[in-house]
Amino acid sequence: MRPERKARILVIDDEEGIRKTLKMILEYEGYEFFEAGTGEDGLEMLRETVGIDLVLLDIKMPGRSGLEVLAELRGRPFVPEVIMISGQGTIQAAVEATKLGAFDFLEKPLHRERVLISIRNALKQTSLDRENQDLKKKAEKRYEIVGNHPLIQNLWKEILKIAPTNATVLVHGESGTGKELIARSIHAHSLRARETFVQVNCAAIPEELIESELFGHERGSFTGATEKKTGKFEQADGGTIFLDEIGDMSLRTQSKVLRVLEEGEVQKVGSSKISKVDVRVIAATNKDLRKEIQEGRFREDLYFRLNVLPLYSPALRERAEDIPVLIDYFSRTFAEENNFKPRKFSADALAAMSRYAWKGNVRELKNVVERLLIMTDRETIEVKDLPDALREKAEVALP
Ligand SMILES: Nc1ncnc2c1ncn2[C@@H]1O[C@H](COP(=O)(O)OP(=O)(O)OP(=O)(O)O)[C@@H](O)[C@H]1O
Ligand SMILES: [Mg+2]
Repeated sequence: MRPERKARILVIDDEEGIRKTLKMILEYEGYEFFEAGTGEDGLEMLRETVGIDLVLLDIKMPGRSGLEVLAELRGRPFVPEVIMISGQGTIQAAVEATKLGAFDFLEKPLHRERVLISIRNALKQTSLDRENQDLKKKAEKRYEIVGNHPLIQNLWKEILKIAPTNATVLVHGESGTGKELIARSIHAHSLRARETFVQVNCAAIPEELIESELFGHERGSFTGATEKKTGKFEQADGGTIFLDEIGDMSLRTQSKVLRVLEEGEVQKVGSSKISKVDVRVIAATNKDLRKEIQEGRFREDLYFRLNVLPLYSPALRERAEDIPVLIDYFSRTFAEENNFKPRKFSADALAAMSRYAWKGNVRELKNVVERLLIMTDRETIEVKDLPDALREKAEVALP
């Protein structure tokens, strides 16, 4: 499946005889062979050697055991598949290891055929993982924040800086400026990128349902609760929760969210049991939360908890220079996705669109561009093709 280069296999085993045997078998089969005599050396080698595709890992070794090495690896990004090697008396541990994510295990004494089959299967798995990673890269591209204006360039820098931390982020900005895009982009660039991203639109959920939506409920905890329900915080465990329109959350719910942020604890509606969750919180609002605090609609302590890393999503009119860039981006991606001919915009049309106020910000711009691509047959979109409100922004045309 990967003809470009030989697969690289690292054997970590304290028994020299085993390493020698495996070296012979693996090199004969055309694999590139690496070896380490202790868990520590193995981890070191994995840090330093690029592109190890597979690890054969002995369970019982002096110093760090195979299980410890496996556990340590699990915390790292881009981990190769691991096959455990177990001697007599460690079969139970080997089974345990597969639960911890090891691909397979081999029993000593090693049998050549069994070793090779397991390796081939594991490498197949690795190449599938690679394909998934490529897909993920494509997905990341979908969360591209387009714009050359310094406000956007700075925003990008901030996003890349804060993404790998677990700190809570509060995004504020007008409607349609890209707050959700920012939240998704932070997640996509974080160490949690492979975990789930759960979005909750706090404004769209009725007050009586929001707590059970966020924290879940026990069966029978209220009329209509016919089944036990997992809350969004639990669904997001290990990943990120995006609390959109947090300014619209009631004070009562705010206090419960505060508790999750402070203690990392959730409690299902109708349950006395408390469970721990590990969730990164990103919140967004188009309201001025300080004003909401003054008017008694938002908890100040929650505001401070959320506002650890504030990000501002600028309005489109603050960065009007980006309008032609965004038009080009949306028309190219839309044409690509729908197999349309790419279309140009005349200089006059671009000028008119750049002067328009875009109260609906990037979302409005995107919708207008897509509509124009669908409705206009000509190769170049002119001022006369634009909606009325935009056409008025054109320099007075000669008769
Ligand atoms: N800088 C940008 N580059 C590319 N696309 C963008 C950018 N900003 C916004 N968009 C696109 O515009 C649309 C609106 O963005 P988004 O939903 O993130 O805005 P929002 O601030 O969450 O809006 P609302 O407050 O209405 O929920 C989306 O389709 C998004 O992909
Ligand atoms: Mg939004």
